Amino acid sequence: MSTSHSIVDLRSDTVTQPTPAMREAMMAAPLGDDVFGTDPSVNALQEKIAALLGFEAALFVPTGTQSNLCAILSHCGRGDEYIVGQQAHCYRWEGGGAAVFGSVQPQPLDHAPDGTLPLAQIEAAIKPDDAHFARTKLLALENTLGGKLLPFEYVQAATDLAKSKGLQRHLDGARLFNAATAQAALNKRSDIRAEARRIAQCFDSVSVCFSKGVGAPVGSALVGSREFIARAHRIRKMAGGGMRQAGLLAAAASHALDHHVDRLADDHALAQRLAQGLEGIEGLAVEAPHTNIVFVDLTGAAQARSSELLASLNSQGILATGLYRLRFVTHLDVDAAGVDRAVAAIRAFFKS
Ligand SMILES: Cc1ncc(COP(=O)(O)O)c(C=O)c1O
Repeated sequence: MSTSHSIVDLRSDTVTQPTPAMREAMMAAPLGDDVFGTDPSVNALQEKIAALLGFEAALFVPTGTQSNLCAILSHCGRGDEYIVGQQAHCYRWEGGGAAVFGSVQPQPLDHAPDGTLPLAQIEAAIKPDDAHFARTKLLALENTLGGKLLPFEYVQAATDLAKSKGLQRHLDGARLFNAATAQAALNKRSDIRAEARRIAQCFDSVSVCFSKGVGAPVGSALVGSREFIARAHRIRKMAGGGMRQAGLLAAAASHALDHHVDRLADDHALAQRLAQGLEGIEGLAVEAPHTNIVFVDLTGAAQARSSELLASLNSQGILATGLYRLRFVTHLDVDAAGVDRAVAAIRAFFKS
């Protein structure tokens, strides 16, 4: 929780500290050796997330990056390709791992402004079975994408199209529960887990991160069929992701699933509060957030002041990133007072 003197860390929802209750759950976790498949806490987490999302099996992995890598390399072999968005994490932000480790070629497509990949472009990108081309095997979507919820009807249509063309479908659902929370709010439903399952069931595999909005320190899970997860298990081992007494971490993830899913709406409300607080400042264009990520563009003469703004905020204990746009992310360790401090500091900067 932020106080007037503490750091307000809006860089990412990955920065959260385990809560005291989560630490207790970690300390109490029964442990084994997960490389032998005998860590009860890992096994329990895998069963829990597979059942929650309606899949046969799950694999606990250290990171979202490794989860996506295991997924792509389990769906595709050397000389295959996956269709993916230009801004998708598994294409743009993961060191090109599928190409580096698996000789799997990405076929990136431009996103429409709402984050979707237009169906006509997906269809046009699927290569005919011809020796000139890589074999198109997989459609990879991401939800949320840059904090945006993909419309459910779109997710259904895109994954139906992929299936009708014989492609596998993978979801990078690093923030699946944020997507489910936003979708539940849109549809006036209250069961976030049921919404997450509805989204997940459009896909053959889904990667979910525990180390983002739900506040665990480490860990992701990949879900899919039993046979798919057996393949992913082999790749996880090759990638160095076989962990031993990993139940310590699985217990944190399990606690996060039990206690931190239903509170994500609070983070979304704080993101709205931040966006509304920044409205009307000359030189700022604020994108209305769907979930917990607020993007802000500097406009006109203010464009040159991005580093200066970040440095000024930093000097006041308010952390944000500006790799390509200014980004503010709300999470478990940010409260309304922290958001209001950030708004006040940004307003003061633009008055100076
Ligand atoms: C959408 C998305 N997918 C995957 C990842 C990768 O997760 P990790 O940092 O655990 O490798 C991230 C990380 O920020 C992400 O935002």
